[in-house]
Amino acid sequence: MDRTPIWIMRQAGRYLPEYRALRQRAGSFLELCKTPQLACEVTLQPVQRFALDAAILFSDILTIPDAMGLGLSFSEGEGPRFERPVRSRADIDRLGVPDPAADLGYVLETVKLARAGLDGRIPLIGFSGSPWTLAAYMVEGRGGTNFSRIKGMAFDAPGELHRLLDLLAKSVTAYLCAQRQAGAQALMVFDTWGGILSEHGYREFSLAYMASIVEALKSEPEAASTPVILFTKGGGQWLEAIADTGCDALGLDWTVDLGRARSRVGHRCALQGNMDPALLGARPRRIREEVALLLKSFGRGSGHVFNLGHGITPEVDPENVAALVDAVHDLSQTYHR
Ligand code: CP3
Repeated sequence: MDRTPIWIMRQAGRYLPEYRALRQRAGSFLELCKTPQLACEVTLQPVQRFALDAAILFSDILTIPDAMGLGLSFSEGEGPRFERPVRSRADIDRLGVPDPAADLGYVLETVKLARAGLDGRIPLIGFSGSPWTLAAYMVEGRGGTNFSRIKGMAFDAPGELHRLLDLLAKSVTAYLCAQRQAGAQALMVFDTWGGILSEHGYREFSLAYMASIVEALKSEPEAASTPVILFTKGGGQWLEAIADTGCDALGLDWTVDLGRARSRVGHRCALQGNMDPALLGARPRRIREEVALLLKSFGRGSGHVFNLGHGITPEVDPENVAALVDAVHDLSQTYHR
């Protein structure tokens, strides 16, 4: 490629008026996710509007716990909530690994429709949450907590937590394999809450399970060549360890310097990121300056996929997203000559 590719985390979402209109038609965010025709349409919305270099499946990381029977809902302005959170050994023992075809068929159907809709123009990324991040939502029961319950389990009942994480790692592996079989061309694991752990806690409760997922995917003859992207928000101090899992790309949040990350990780994997999402609230000229800084920091050659350091937020003006995509394509050419 003669320029740096770009896609944007949460590129389909509330900052787009066409997304808000479709969500209203569907009735709710979950209905939108569970109706493959509509979820496919939402997947394609941002790539029809902007010259993005990848599409990401429109869904949510909480589909796995939903399929496990926890009773997921999203209340307006409050984020996710589970009717039956996981609080005891008995709760964990009741859970099973969801069968992707039987329990998450709507996601696989969306992948197939989106692949057909994209018609080979750009690749489609499938995704899942990391076992630790999924466990955090399942045990806390909702977003916006201080994680005292899941940390309490890690300190006082680590055996039980490991049982839950092991079940989730198996579920995530099966789910990602099924997405790949349905047509996903890259697979991303979102470890949104790995960064709240201590160094040894991260290795034990988050990284070890992501490593087992990468290993399982890489040992499947059919999935082995599909790129796997790992993203731990707040994981800047562990980049070498994450790269050692054998992942193909590493997602970075904006607190890390791209150039230094590149020299730490070397040729082990590509880097994805990492503009502060808040910059999309600045003027287009300022966005362009920041893009220039980030591209310069990474330097010449391939191995960088431009993205934000976390998801785009609802109040962003779509015009600024267009300015970002143009700036990346335009200013990156000189680094690929
Ligand atoms: O990137 C994409 O465009 C693909 C779609 C996608 C969504 N969620 C759509 C969504 C992806 C990849 C996710 C992942 C996800 N979901 C994560 C990990 C990524 C991250 O942000 O770190 C997490 C933690 C979740 C759980 C989740 N889903 C939360 C906490 C919320 C509420 C957030 C909020 O701002 O209200 C959601 C809802 C959600 N997922 C929305 C979208 C577009 C907003 C739903 C709506 O109101 O329309």
